[in-house]
Amino acid sequence: MAEHMPPPTAGLPLHLADLWPWGDDDLAGALARWLRVPAVQLECSGTSALMVALAALRRLAPARTEVVIPAYTCPLVALAVAQSGLRPRLCDLLPDRPDMNPEQLAALCSERTLALLPTHLCGRVADVGAALACARAVGAYVIEDSAQALGARVHGEPVGWQGDLGFYSLAVGKGLTTYEGGVLLARQAALREALREAGQAARCVSRNWEWRRSLELLGYALLYRPSGLDRAYGRPLRTALARGDWVQAAGDDFGDVIPRHALGAWRRRVAVRALHRLGRFQARLADQAHERMARLAAIPGLEVVGDLVPGTRGTWPVLLLRLHSGAARDALLRAHWGAGLGLSLPFVHALPDYGRYDHVLAGARGEDVPRARDWAARLVAVSNSPWLDEERFARLLQILEHVALDG
Ligand SMILES: Cc1ncc(COP(=O)(O)O)c(C=O)c1O
Repeated sequence: MAEHMPPPTAGLPLHLADLWPWGDDDLAGALARWLRVPAVQLECSGTSALMVALAALRRLAPARTEVVIPAYTCPLVALAVAQSGLRPRLCDLLPDRPDMNPEQLAALCSERTLALLPTHLCGRVADVGAALACARAVGAYVIEDSAQALGARVHGEPVGWQGDLGFYSLAVGKGLTTYEGGVLLARQAALREALREAGQAARCVSRNWEWRRSLELLGYALLYRPSGLDRAYGRPLRTALARGDWVQAAGDDFGDVIPRHALGAWRRRVAVRALHRLGRFQARLADQAHERMARLAAIPGLEVVGDLVPGTRGTWPVLLLRLHSGAARDALLRAHWGAGLGLSLPFVHALPDYGRYDHVLAGARGEDVPRARDWAARLVAVSNSPWLDEERFARLLQILEHVALDG
């Protein structure tokens, strides 16, 4: 089975015609129209977009030094906060959805808080209202981490638009991709201006990075297809798993260098062309997700994580499942991760439990985050790529039925 390896998330495949070197490079304009917002700002990654957002807010509130983030999120978020000279504070999650606990949010917020980051994990829409209420009570800002949710909407508006600021990632696997890329948005014109100034101050023109990213995007265009994915994704995955290195297998092994540069014109052109297909692709993914979630939800003891906040319409790069125990989840992954059934982990650990990020979490290591640890222990993602075909999905269902019976 391993020669056909579905990707861990449903990225938008590129067409060779997207690679044409000429044409419209106004990706910011195209994305703003697609999102139906007045303007967006491009950065070279979601992480660097977050750093620009923090720099902009820091100029507005220089005395504030803390940023509240979910205790179960991408480690890059903690790195970005720390590299911005700010202290990450970790908020535990709710028991019933992977969203920050409002009571703990309120307890963590103070006159030191610069920003709170409600996070739309894996396309599931978070409750931004709760974060806004806590932020407003102490004069802090809300940055919506929409890195994994480009295309998700709340009452018809894009995620990222309810908070003061929001950002999307255009990294591989996030849907639309420039291999690495980031998008910032803000409802208020004054905050858009603050973002623009902070972005200009931080960004340099780096030909080296742009060459590298352009080659990587070319590689993506060539290999992100059923015939190429085993080489590009399956083999490195199996090597990491054979070493027992789940952090590398999940792609959670980040270094400290966060490049800051402009997103080059060729990559913007590629994305402008691909963007024309994103809406149709996401509609197809939503249909597949709903059909498959209904089948997964019929398995006793298996919890399918859907959109629990009213009025929201998430995106479906993966289907999120929570198993009855951490031991069952680990046994499932030990037996079947890397076997072409679309299994993966959003993130391996709650942030304090990686060890390798202790240098940026010094002040947060002791924070008690039992729910985040429980989510990290029992969660598993199933790729919603159309390349996880019916035969493989049916096999996965059978395996999950056995796991449920054993529980
Ligand atoms: C929740 C979350 N926030 C932020 C980021 C950072 O985005 P990027 O990879 O584009 O730097 C990611 C990336 O995976 C993420 O998953």
